[in-house]
Amino acid sequence: MSTAISPTAYNYKVVRQFAIMTVVWGILGMGLGVFIASQLVWPELNFGLPWTTFGRLRPLHTNLVIFAFGGCALFATSYYVVQRTCQTRLISDSLAAFTFWGWQAVIVGAIVTLPLGYTTTKEYAELEWPLAILLAIVWVTYGLVFFGTIVKRKTKHIYVGNWFYGAFIVVTAMLHIVNHASLPVSFFKSYSAYAGATDAMIQWWYGHNAVGFFLTTGFLGMMYYFVPKQAERPIYSYRLSIVHFWALITLYIWAGPHHLHYTALPDWAQSLGMAMSIILLAPSWGGMINGMMTLSGAWHKLRTDPILRFLVVSLAFYGMSTFEGPMMAIKTVNSLSHYTDWTIGHVHAGALGWVAMISIGALYHMIPKVFGRQQMHSIGLINTHFWLATIGTVLYIASMWVNGITQGLMWRAINDDGTLTYSFVEALQASHPGFIVRALGGAFFAAGMLFMAYNVFRTVRASNPAEAEAAAQIAVVGAH
Ligand code: HEM
Ligand code: HEM
Repeated sequence: MSTAISPTAYNYKVVRQFAIMTVVWGILGMGLGVFIASQLVWPELNFGLPWTTFGRLRPLHTNLVIFAFGGCALFATSYYVVQRTCQTRLISDSLAAFTFWGWQAVIVGAIVTLPLGYTTTKEYAELEWPLAILLAIVWVTYGLVFFGTIVKRKTKHIYVGNWFYGAFIVVTAMLHIVNHASLPVSFFKSYSAYAGATDAMIQWWYGHNAVGFFLTTGFLGMMYYFVPKQAERPIYSYRLSIVHFWALITLYIWAGPHHLHYTALPDWAQSLGMAMSIILLAPSWGGMINGMMTLSGAWHKLRTDPILRFLVVSLAFYGMSTFEGPMMAIKTVNSLSHYTDWTIGHVHAGALGWVAMISIGALYHMIPKVFGRQQMHSIGLINTHFWLATIGTVLYIASMWVNGITQGLMWRAINDDGTLTYSFVEALQASHPGFIVRALGGAFFAAGMLFMAYNVFRTVRASNPAEAEAAAQIAVVGAH
């Protein structure tokens, strides 16, 4: 750690706005997750109305948790980290404000259009072309603000967290623009520029790298700043972080075909995707180990610091899901896991255990700093939140493992005469207890978010933003 004097005040306003909206969208997106999980337990909750059916609300859930909750967390933390590690203010307050309002407009657009049934039908890229264009404009502006700030930095080198945020911004722009190439036929309907197996490959090149760059690389940027900060230790190995970065971004981009095993995609492409996914285990674990080992000599802090617990447990879930992913990418394993709840469990090990928990930890560290407080209103409530989130995640993924393996085995069971041993409905009945446990786990996780909202509300009410900015003018502690 080095301490430096900076004459610059930071733009914390946009950080505060994105931080608050992370909590708001988190509650809505996860609340909706609990609702659709409950629909799978009690189908009456579909209410017989088209716009409240599972099929329309599920994509709204994914858009809200990934782009609204995850996206706002990434905007908030990247703007905070880039300013502090470059010891300079964002290059433009108005462009930064545009990214905030533009991003919220895209989310509101999703909340209106998805329940109405307007969709491209491409998973995680459902928004129709007018919203997709707005999203592209906001994203390019984000890139200008982020990289412009890096260019005018007052430090010599670029802190590793910014490398990860930078790659996430560049690759997300590329994925979004390529996958959304389409022909609009009306204001709410467009057709993809690609067809058949090519369309599927482009879609899963996008889909997998949305996981790799949006849900992983950006959050690794967060990890590289907030874990050392909260542990008050330098990152375990700077050299490993460089190797980690280049290995991760080089490998991730090839792994998309593991979503298309046993399809019309050429066999060699499927095998290549499988091989690249297995190799991906190495850089993923390299990153996890780098984060975990940062705590060496500071493990005792876990006993008293629930924020650090959020950050470290998120790394444990990251390690777990990036072990599970390569296993599921093996074709023989995938022939069992594909289409089952095992995939859903894997998704939420990453989404709840890794993405949500690292974001929550980072926010608890950052919110007092940008609101001019010493610490959050209540450390006890952070601890309660930590246990609700951890128990909720474990209930979610354990129930989905049981369901997934049960479903896979029941679907493939065959009698001596070649007929199926179980009907689909029998497999569904066997899944019912797991659905109940998953809804309960989700409710635990979402309840934790309500505690967070109250804690943030009390912290903000007692806040002094002007003091936070003045403090930033006096001393800046670089994380390297
Ligand atoms: C080394 C890292 C990883 C590998 C190799 C990997 C591999 C896989 C595989 C094989 C599937 C199942 C594909 C199928 O049968 O359809 C899958 C699904 C998925 N994974 Fe991962 N995974 C990794 C890490 C992660 C992480 C960290 C997250 C979340 C933060 C994540 C999110 C997802 C999502 C959202 C899906 C579902 C996609 C869909 O069908 O809609 N993965 N992953
Ligand atoms: C309270 C927490 C949550 C609950 C109860 C929940 C529940 C659900 C349910 C019921 C589904 C549909 C599963 C199915 O089709 O069988 C789903 C899908 C999904 N959720 Fe969540 N979710 C939660 C939080 C999150 C978070 C925080 C993220 C991301 C950061 C996330 C990402 C996803 C994704 C990517 C899918 C689609 C998976 C796929 O297509 O394979 N969820 N969620």
